[in-house]
Amino acid sequence: MKIVLLGAPGAGKGTQAQKLVEEFGVAHISTGDLLRAAVKAQSELGVKAKEYMDAGQLVPDELVVGLVKERLAQDDAKIGFILDGFPRNTAQAITLDAELSKMGVDLDGALLVDVASEVIVNRLSSRRTCRSCGYTAGADTSVCPRCNGEMYQRDDDKPETIQKRLDTYASQTEPLIEYYGGKGILVKVDGDRPVDEVYVDVKKELGL
Ligand code: AP5
Repeated sequence: MKIVLLGAPGAGKGTQAQKLVEEFGVAHISTGDLLRAAVKAQSELGVKAKEYMDAGQLVPDELVVGLVKERLAQDDAKIGFILDGFPRNTAQAITLDAELSKMGVDLDGALLVDVASEVIVNRLSSRRTCRSCGYTAGADTSVCPRCNGEMYQRDDDKPETIQKRLDTYASQTEPLIEYYGGKGILVKVDGDRPVDEVYVDVKKELGL
């Protein structure tokens, strides 16, 4: 399984990725998680990235692409991978194609998790994320069910930043639907249903 997950912020990409990883043991490559780890470590990259993330904007390509290349080269990604949050614009998609071609790897599909923006604002305002492992759940979860870590509200899940992220998605990431549609590898699921129902469709659409 070598797939790209597409969808607006809060569409449920991370949630569906977690389920695929648990069932199929492939690598979950989330650029959001990689960037948040860099912010937490206060690395030079993390300090630069934080400014863009807090503003609901994309982190510059040159900072993100290196992280993805490094992660794709790790052993667990050889079994398969789910790219969650990458690519985020056409330039990143072209870079990814070039990188995968060097590795002799083809994408099996690009899966769009489709959810209306009104639903998204509610979901993101009530989302909590594990400080240790990145697991996500609703506001009623205070201890991570996966690693017992502390659940917190991401800085960019505050109402003022959510709308900016949605605008960034519409202007920069949505064109990728056409990009992967043109390659004939785009599949779509309705993400506005219970998580397990969405997951049944995810597997069906991916032929799993
Ligand atoms: P990133 O971390 O990638 O955030 P995102 O794309 O905005 O996506 P989210 O993680 O917010 O949402 P999700 O779709 O994974 O939803 P989730 O499953 O958690 O990026 C953050 C920032 O980093 C960006 O803004 C940017 O600055 C930077 N960045 C990242 N990648 C970049 C790149 N490639 N280039 C440049 N910059 C980059 O679900 C959300 C909530 O809904 C949860 O609480 C969940 O429990 C709940 N939920 C999920 N599914 C359902 C369902 N079916 N029904 C009800 N509730 C559900």
